[in-house]
Amino acid sequence: MYIVFEGIDGAGKSTQIQMLKEWLEANGFRVETVVEPTDSEVGKLIRKILQRPDAQSDRVQKTLGLLFAADRMLIMDKLEDESKIIISDRSFISSLAYQGNPEWIGVLNKYVKKPDLLILLDLDVKTSVARTSGEDTFENEQFLTGVRENYLKFAKDYTSEIIDATNGVNKVSSDIKKAVAPYLGICPDCIL
Ligand code: TYD
Repeated sequence: MYIVFEGIDGAGKSTQIQMLKEWLEANGFRVETVVEPTDSEVGKLIRKILQRPDAQSDRVQKTLGLLFAADRMLIMDKLEDESKIIISDRSFISSLAYQGNPEWIGVLNKYVKKPDLLILLDLDVKTSVARTSGEDTFENEQFLTGVRENYLKFAKDYTSEIIDATNGVNKVSSDIKKAVAPYLGICPDCIL
């Protein structure tokens, strides 16, 4: 099963992925995690480009759309491993939400595995900016507002669970476990 975590910056994806992984392992599942951008050559280039002051411009976002698709192709064999649960910190759904332009992103990601389950950690933009020491500018807030709207729109096209990420870490974690349990045949009343 390929489970992807998505959400705007500061939603708490990495902490929640670690908590879900430990819980699934305690329930006897084999779990592997992946993170996008990856640590491949392309992923390293992406991280550099993300630092550019004009990173949110249309031109750079299109460049990123191309690079993210290439970076993702490099880990396709991992994503297709059916012997384990693969939990991913971001996926091509980030490209839909951040880069926009769904038809073009769809073509670039034609051969990419689609998630079996999307966990969207939903967060308002003000909380995101406060949590990430992100730029508190009108442009940044506008950009993230668009990304959040895209997430809520595209989540409908996948098997998805939307989790309120403004709650505390433990509440969010237990909401995620309750949401994931039925997909894996774990008894919801047995959740610790
Ligand atoms: P990172 O510092 O790893 O952020 P986070 O911890 O929030 O995941 O940087 C990843 C950034 O790249 C993040 O702002 C989202 C963006 N991104 C895209 O724009 N398109 C994509 O396809 C992916 C995977 C990420």
